[in-house]
Amino acid sequence: MPEPSVMVIFGGTGDLASRKLMPALYDLARQRLLPSAFVVVGVGRGEMTDAEYRAQLRDAVARHSRSRPVDEDVWRSFAERLTYVSVRAEEGYADLRRRLEQLDRDLGTEGDRLFYLATPPAAYVPIVRSIGRHDLRGGGWARIVVEKPFGRDLASATALSRTLQEVFDEDEIFRIDHYLGKETVQNILVFRFANSIFEPVWNRRYVDHVQITVAESLGVDDRTEYYDEAGAMRDVVQNHLLQLLALVAMEPPIAFDANAVRDEKVKVLRAIRPIREEDLGERAVRGQYGPGFIEGDPVAGYHALPEVAPESKTETYVGLKLFVDNWRWEGTPFYVRHGKRLPKRATEIAIQFRSVPHHLFSEDARQGLEPNTLVVRIQPEEGISLKFGAKVPVQGIRIRSVAMDFVYGASFLVDAPDAYETLLLDALRGDATLFTRQDEVEEQWRLVDPIIAAWRTGPDVPPAYPAGTWGPAEADLFIARDGRRWRQP
Ligand code: BG6
Repeated sequence: MPEPSVMVIFGGTGDLASRKLMPALYDLARQRLLPSAFVVVGVGRGEMTDAEYRAQLRDAVARHSRSRPVDEDVWRSFAERLTYVSVRAEEGYADLRRRLEQLDRDLGTEGDRLFYLATPPAAYVPIVRSIGRHDLRGGGWARIVVEKPFGRDLASATALSRTLQEVFDEDEIFRIDHYLGKETVQNILVFRFANSIFEPVWNRRYVDHVQITVAESLGVDDRTEYYDEAGAMRDVVQNHLLQLLALVAMEPPIAFDANAVRDEKVKVLRAIRPIREEDLGERAVRGQYGPGFIEGDPVAGYHALPEVAPESKTETYVGLKLFVDNWRWEGTPFYVRHGKRLPKRATEIAIQFRSVPHHLFSEDARQGLEPNTLVVRIQPEEGISLKFGAKVPVQGIRIRSVAMDFVYGASFLVDAPDAYETLLLDALRGDATLFTRQDEVEEQWRLVDPIIAAWRTGPDVPPAYPAGTWGPAEADLFIARDGRRWRQP
């Protein structure tokens, strides 16, 4: 159980607060996982009473909580812990400070504070400076949760970090990558390091290659302003996708604690061979969706969206071939891809093993045999499956691939917590294991910055792919050159 504390959400009326943070806090309250003395202070620019704020959030929770309908008793006691402060200008911070001190006196929260930056990123620096200037930290512990994007490149990420560190120590800064809070993502660590049978084959001797896919059927409809600048590389590859790769490729940490786990992840990120401009053709591919169909319904292409300039070269699809240059993985390609408007939502990691050194069975018998593959399905249909060859029950030898399957829903009859529940609770407890450290963020930018720069400034435009297909033809060629093909999740 976290200690009594006050959580201050900057951007308390924004989209993230309504869609993710409040529903997650309500779900934690429902499970009685919040401390008895706990209050959420929403900070926004508009004027609003506490009653109006609560009514607005009641709607958000009803729409986005994972347990619907809303339990009225739980809601009532949760709503009592919600309060709103309007901060329009610098003087507003003095009011905020007074309110926080009052809450400490009334509730016995002893100046323990969790700040949450849920505003557009442009507001991060001024808010952090104001927290410092007005000494909002209180007398107890103070932590700050920062939403991605952490900068837009290496230089801005470092500058943001410097500002944060003017007011907070690195171990008080919690950078959220919500993928790390997903149950199945945490399970990568359990699968690898709580079992003894997988680790011996988890290396270049046995693994032919790894494929990591983060596919979405959604487009970018209402986020064009942000997305047109960010693109698929900054939006998902730089963070979620590289974090998945780090978890798959890392060495066993010496302990399950924040620094030990992050030390190992950062070593992987550092070992990724840089993609130089001259390697781009061979190691990176991009695309941009055109009009097409998703589940039979027509959808517009990226260029047809309002606010997207006709000459926009923003990529909505990225495929990369990465190498982790270390003892364990030397020479084993990691093919990673992410795209919007692909045929379906599917995130998975597929470890494809090498074929046997010598074939005992005839080519005919082996026709239905596919390579041994271990697939970690992150979402949906969370689970893990291992594909292997089995004899078809007929006379003579015929082999077909079959799967051993672990399905979360069937093995555990409880709903997994939402990633934000897990991460908020961890931040309240002060456990940073599932948050990214500054050195990880920097390595991630170091890898993607040159690719983005070359793509955005070069003369070529991203090849188009029809919405509802698995990316541009170039993406298939890209992997086919190595004699391999993308899996169909
Ligand atoms: C966010 C990106 O970080 O992750 C979105 O900004 C993306 O563009 C989302 O859709 C994917 O998250 P999830 O949890 O839906 O897989």
